[in-house]
Formats: sequence, C-alpha cells, structure tokens
Amino acid sequence: MKKIVSSHDVGLDDMEFLYDMLASRPECVKISSKAPMPTWDEHLTFWADRPYRYARVIKVGDKPAGYCYISRNDPPEIAVHLIPEHQRHGIGTRVFKVLLDMTEGKGVANISQRNEMARNFLKSLGFNQIQETYSHE
Ligand SMILES: CC(C)(COP(=O)(O)OP(=O)(O)OC[C@H]1O[C@@H](n2cnc3c(N)ncnc32)[C@H](O)[C@@H]1OP(=O)(O)O)[C@@H](O)C(=O)NCCC(=O)NCCS
Repeated sequence: MKKIVSSHDVGLDDMEFLYDMLASRPECVKISSKAPMPTWDEHLTFWADRPYRYARVIKVGDKPAGYCYISRNDPPEIAVHLIPEHQRHGIGTRVFKVLLDMTEGKGVANISQRNEMARNFLKSLGFNQIQETYSHE
C-alpha cells in the first residue's frame, strides 16, 4: 500500500531527527568534508535563528523521512534531503516541484561535486549547472 507523504514546519520536536540526519550524511553529500559536525547546542541555535524562509520536515506515513527548505536569499537556495530508505521513490521530485512553485520557478541548488545522485536528480528537473566552486583548505 502506498504511504501518504506529508510535511510540517520544522519545530523543536524535530531537532533530534534533524541532528541524526546531519550526523549520518554520507561523505558524497557533504559540501565540505572538513566542516565539523555542530554540537547539539550549535544545532539548536542554528534552527532557533530561523535560517530559512521555509523549512519543513517531510513525513512518510507518520514517520519523518527528510526535510526541505527555501533560503532567504535571492535567488533562493532550494534543498531536499531524504533518508536513504525513502530515496528514489519520486518524493524528491514531488517536493522540489512544490518548492519551485513557491519561488515562481526560480532557485539554485548547491551540491557537492561528488554527489552524483543529486546531479542526476537536478538535471531530471531541468536545472542547469552555472558555476564551479573551488575551495582551499
Ligand atoms: C537527491 C534527492 C533529493 C532526490 O530525491 P529522490 O526522491 O531520491 O529522487 P526521485 O526518486 O524523485 O528521482 C528523480 C530522478 O533523479 C535521478 N536520481 C535520483 N536518485 C538517483 C540516484 N541515486 N542515482 C542516479 N540518479 C538518481 C533520476 O534521474 C531519477 O529519475 P528515475 O528514478 O526515473 O531514474 C534524494 O536522493 C536525497 O535526499 N539525497 C541525499 C541528499 C541530497 O543529496 N540532497 C540534494 C540537495 S539539493
């Protein structure tokens, strides 16, 4: 049976789930492999500062499956992160389309060079690559 996908605004009750997601990101998804994992307090402060214009936890059935956001800058940064068991079931596409509707089709996505799945995903949604970012660490 197909499970219902829903979402809610990120709130205090989601902090543990979001922290676990951050901690378990595979290397290929991280933009900088040297950025240290924030402490729990830094994580809480980050979200308390309301860093995004729109941030939702995505649920499949009654369980959290990922999160998405639209940043406050212009053009807005758009992102979706799903836990592995819910990847490749079309959820990312559905969520991205909703986010793009909210930004009138305008948006950028920042991904790591090593993130092959996200590159294919963004191409499938009609995104074009506009820059390469180099880092000296
Ligand atoms: C990237 C991500 C958001 C895509 O969402 P998703 O629900 O898994 O993707 P979809 O099922 O909607 O896939 C749409 C298309 O993207 C491409 N794609 C998605 N995952 C892929 C993978 N692992 N390998 C190759 N292509 C992939 C395919 O073209 C796919 O179409 P197809 O299944 O008909 O071949 C999700 O996999 C994810 O959260 N990854 C980890 C976090 C991340 O990298 N986020 C990107 C921030 S923008």
